[in-house]
Amino acid sequence: MQIDVHNLSFSYGHRTVIDSLSLSLSSGDYLVIRGKNGTGKSTFIKCLLGMNPVKNGMIFYDHQDINYFKEWTCLGYVSQKFEDFNYEFPITVNEFLSVSSLRKTSQSNRLKALDQMGILELLNQNINNLSGGELQRTFIARSMLNDPKLLILDEPTASIDKLSTEYFFKAVNQLNLQGVTIILVTHNESLGHLNYSHVLTMFSDGTNTFQTRDRCDLSEVDF
Ligand SMILES: Nc1ncnc2c1ncn2[C@@H]1O[C@H](COP(=O)(O)OP(=O)(O)O)[C@@H](O)[C@H]1O
Ligand SMILES: [Mg+2]
Repeated sequence: MQIDVHNLSFSYGHRTVIDSLSLSLSSGDYLVIRGKNGTGKSTFIKCLLGMNPVKNGMIFYDHQDINYFKEWTCLGYVSQKFEDFNYEFPITVNEFLSVSSLRKTSQSNRLKALDQMGILELLNQNINNLSGGELQRTFIARSMLNDPKLLILDEPTASIDKLSTEYFFKAVNQLNLQGVTIILVTHNESLGHLNYSHVLTMFSDGTNTFQTRDRCDLSEVDF
């Protein structure tokens, strides 16, 4: 998916959190967004997801203005907030994946997604009994089921262990190689193992820099 952001600014009341953000990504690009806590990373993601209405500046998906965009099923999204998740009634991981996919999925698709995340053995477990890391990987598997053209990940590994994190980034790299555009938010990740192509750095005064990988010295800023 092609993404173009032109001069996007966003404020909560009088507080400007994003000041003139512009970037362009093509299909198969992999953007890492980094910045300290509170620099507006999630605010920008909410703009991309249509949750924060864009009033100053423009966002285009495949050259279509986000204000008229309808193909939200092309987007996969995984957020960092899982702690308070609890399904209303006992349901297995397999059932959870079946009911929460927007398209009809086959059992083999579900098995593949779980296998990619290294949690195939959880297929018939009650989702309310999973650990935080297992739950997070289940959500990531779910986001893959719709074959997204753009996968947006907001600090997805914030509360999972090292092994899960490795599985996760391998799976993301694989999706990226298949042409899925990736946007990954991180605030403390070492980026060595990621196949990113671009870096957006956000600062607490609302400013930002957008660079290609070869122009970005990651040792420059310590997060
Ligand atoms: N709904 C909101 N209303 C008012 N202020 C908000 C809201 N959401 C976030 N903020 C503030 O905007 C700033 C950026 O937040 P956020 O985008 O969550 O940062 P990050 O994801 O980089 O940690 C923070 O100062 C935060 O307190
Ligand atoms: Mg955030």
